[in-house]
Amino acid sequence: MPLDAKASAPGKVILFGEHAVVYGEPSLSLAVDQRTSVSGAAVGDQVTVNGRALNPRWHRYILQAVERHWDGPLRLQVESGVPSSSGMGSSAALSVATCAVLLRLRSEGPVEPARIAEASFDAERDAQGGASPNDTTVSTAGGGVLLAPVAHADLDVLWRIERDELAWVAHRVDVPALPLVVAFTGRKGNTARMVAKVRRFVERNAFGRDVIAEIGGLVAGAVDALADGDLAEVGRLMDRNHVLLHTLGVATPELTRLVEVAGKAAGTYGAKLTGAGGGGSIVVLTEEPAEAAKALSDAGAETFEVHASPRGVTVEADGRPDP
Ligand code: PMV
Repeated sequence: MPLDAKASAPGKVILFGEHAVVYGEPSLSLAVDQRTSVSGAAVGDQVTVNGRALNPRWHRYILQAVERHWDGPLRLQVESGVPSSSGMGSSAALSVATCAVLLRLRSEGPVEPARIAEASFDAERDAQGGASPNDTTVSTAGGGVLLAPVAHADLDVLWRIERDELAWVAHRVDVPALPLVVAFTGRKGNTARMVAKVRRFVERNAFGRDVIAEIGGLVAGAVDALADGDLAEVGRLMDRNHVLLHTLGVATPELTRLVEVAGKAAGTYGAKLTGAGGGGSIVVLTEEPAEAAKALSDAGAETFEVHASPRGVTVEADGRPDP
C-alpha cells in the first residue's frame, strides 16, 4: 500500500439539466480547468484537514468520504482552486479528490475511475441529502459528459450508476471548444437547500414533474446542436432551460437579471444559471467572451472565462502518477 496519495479533480459547468438529473432526466456538463487537490497520509492520531481536526460543520463532504472509506488516523491537505458554492462544482471536485485519495491509500494499484465516481457520488449524496451523480461523474471523467437514463447508441459509454431504482449512464460527448463565461452573483448558493426545495415542488405538484421532464427533453436537442456546431440553437436551448429553472424556483432575481444582461451583450448565444441556483452563477455561451464579461462585471458580478478541460481526476501514489 502507498504511504501517501494525492489526487486532483476539476470543477464543472452544467450546460443543461441541473435538478432534472436528480430525477433521472439527462444532463450535459463540461469539466473546466479550475481544480481541487487533496493529499493524504495515514499519520497522526486523529483525522485532520489542513492541520485542524475533522469537523462535521466545516468538512461535510470530507466527513462522508472518511466515514465510508477510512478507519484510523489520517492527515489531509486540501487546496481548492474551484470557487466555493459558485455552481462550479467545488463540492464534487472535493468529494472526487478525497475519495480518490482514500481508495488509493487502501489499494496496491490504480483505482478504476468508475469506482471513484461511484464512491464520490455516494459521499456527495449523503452530505447533500439527495443528489445525482452528475457533478462527481464529470469531475472524475473530465471533458464533456452526457448522463442519460439509457445508453445512447451513437456515444461511448463511460460507466453506469444505479441507486434507488434510478439509473444514469455516463457518456463521453465531444464538445467543441466553446467560448463560455461564468458570472458569480457573489451570493453563495446552498445546493442541499435547493435540491430539497425542488423535491417539495415535484412531490406535491404534477406541474413540477412536467417542468422536470421538459428540462430533460432539452438535452437531446442540445447534444445534436453541439454535434452540428449550431451554437445559436444551443444558446436558444440554454435560454429556455433558464426559464424552466426559474419556474422550479431556483433562479433568484439576481441570477435572472444577470441572464438578461448577458443576453443583451454583443455575441451572446444564450445564458442560464448553472448548478443548483439560489445564488451561485450563470453560464454564458458567447462569441465575444470579453463583451459578456465586461457587461456582467459592470452589472456587479465576478466573472471568469472558463475553458473546458479534458483532464478528469488524476491520482499519484508515493509521488508517482497512476496511469
Ligand atoms: O450546485 P452544484 O454545482 O453542486 O450543482 C448541483 C446540481 C444539481 O442537479 C442541482 C444537484 C445534483 O446533484 O445533480
